[in-house]
Amino acid sequence: MSYNLLKGKRGLIFGALNENSIAWKTAERVYQEGGRFVLTNTPASMKMGNVDELAKKCDTIVIPADATNVEDLENLVVKGMEYLGGKFDFVLHSIGMSPNVRKGRTYDNLNYHYLHQTLDISAISFHKILQSCRKLDAIADWGSVVALTYVAAQKTLYGYNDMADAKALLESITRSFGYIYGRERNIRVNTISQSPTMTTAGGGIMGFDKLFDFAERMAPLGNASADECADYIITLFSDLTRKVTMQNLYHDGGYSSMGMSLAAMSVYREGLEYTDVSKDLSSESGKTARLRKLDKKEMPNKEGEQQ
Ligand SMILES: NC(=O)c1ccc[n+]([C@@H]2O[C@H](COP(=O)([O-])OP(=O)(O)OC[C@H]3O[C@@H](n4cnc5c(N)ncnc54)[C@H](O)[C@@H]3O)[C@@H](O)[C@H]2O)c1
Repeated sequence: MSYNLLKGKRGLIFGALNENSIAWKTAERVYQEGGRFVLTNTPASMKMGNVDELAKKCDTIVIPADATNVEDLENLVVKGMEYLGGKFDFVLHSIGMSPNVRKGRTYDNLNYHYLHQTLDISAISFHKILQSCRKLDAIADWGSVVALTYVAAQKTLYGYNDMADAKALLESITRSFGYIYGRERNIRVNTISQSPTMTTAGGGIMGFDKLFDFAERMAPLGNASADECADYIITLFSDLTRKVTMQNLYHDGGYSSMGMSLAAMSVYREGLEYTDVSKDLSSESGKTARLRKLDKKEMPNKEGEQQ
């Protein structure tokens, strides 16, 4: 359904790789809502994915740019404004990549060159985009900038690795630049903290299927899909959210406010009985000893669970 929420608005969308990408779904929704935009991705990702197909569908162009390269960004901003015939009303940063994750380096064995790349691609690129736009006066007054993040910035989640540090930095840049752009031009800058989502970047995280399943069981509304994320993003690009800025907005079905749900507890109990305790009984290490204490007698009974 279209509400014409973005009629007459122009923008810039980073990060559409293939039809699973959050940026891809967002581009489709923005187009439906009457917005016009330029798409961008790295030359390598343009070859790997099919962003050209999306451009055709949305009647636009793709301008290649590496979001870590300021020269590329300035060229993109100038050409994008030229193509659209004016300043941007919205910008989407939907970019993330960790070479440490890709190469299977765990958090206690990081390659520091890779860490720099993770931070540059996944967080500092946001600063570079904002700074390039400001330098070229490319965002219209009351414009809206959104970046995508994950709750691992606030809470430790096994396997998310150095991307957690990148997301914490991304959220901090959002506040710091949000203050500057807000005070000068009424431009808002926010992050959306999205549920685990089946995309190329998401699938690269160690144990992603289990993380996805756990979040689904914990969230009272279940995980938010990429389509639902696109719906949320268009509200932030619209004029209906003009005073929302410098926020980290959870879009996760309630996951971030949960401690334990019945659905997750039931599965955890099964795991404890059939995997952890029985497998580790022979070992008397501290962790196993603690697990042993949690025998069946100490677990809540079925009635207790239902209360
Ligand atoms: N998938 C999830 O579970 C999930 C959850 C929360 C937040 N996010 C965030 O959503 C955003 C989008 O990811 P996605 O899940 O749609 O996956 P995706 O793999 O479809 O998108 C990631 C994009 O980043 C682009 N990119 C990588 N390096 C780049 C560079 N140097 N310059 C420009 N673009 C570059 C890739 O080409 C790709 O298009 C990311 O910030 C990700 O961390 C994803």
